[in-house]
Amino acid sequence: MSRDEALDPRLQFLHDRRTVSRLESPGPDATELTALLAAADTAPDHGLLHPWRFLVLDEDDRARVSAAYADAQRTRDDDAGLVERAASKPLRGPCVVVALARTVDHPRIPHWEQLAAAAAAVQNLCLAATALGYASAWRTGWFVEHDMVRAALGATHDERIIGMIHLGTPRE
Ligand SMILES: Cc1cc2nc3c(=O)[nH]c(=O)nc-3n(C[C@H](O)[C@H](O)[C@H](O)COP(=O)(O)O)c2cc1C
Repeated sequence: MSRDEALDPRLQFLHDRRTVSRLESPGPDATELTALLAAADTAPDHGLLHPWRFLVLDEDDRARVSAAYADAQRTRDDDAGLVERAASKPLRGPCVVVALARTVDHPRIPHWEQLAAAAAAVQNLCLAATALGYASAWRTGWFVEHDMVRAALGATHDERIIGMIHLGTPRE
């Protein structure tokens, strides 16, 4: 049985979530973003450690992060096309939410469970966006591990950037 044949209509919105690379306005407004982040926060969280944090980037943030992506690219290869492409990444689509995970030593709850909880929160965010009629793209790559990008996003030494979540309306 194919995935489509197995679809129960009550689960339609889960099947509707697909990565959409080309996004345009409108994205979620401030009220909708608050609702999306509240939905993300309902993720199963063993020990209630809340090992995630979300940052909604405003235009200034995105410009700063774009410059950091370009700088990070230059440390690897300063080809003008690659630098331009790197700089464009955080500017794609009308809205970017950054997901950060922070796991701690805990007597009962290993790091991997805390990371799994943070990933569940990200998936909640993406599914909630789908439910509100928006598309999403969960992006990572080596950029999010780079010190320049981490600094531009204000990641603390014990936080891992686990996603740049682009939200918006699918471009025709
Ligand atoms: C932790 C994580 C990191 C991801 N990073 C990227 C990424 O850097 N670039 C990308 O195009 N997709 C990324 N994705 C999305 C997957 O590529 C995507 O979900 C997969 O291709 C299946 O497509 P679908 O989401 O439409 O089902 C990531 C997904 C996860 C869970």
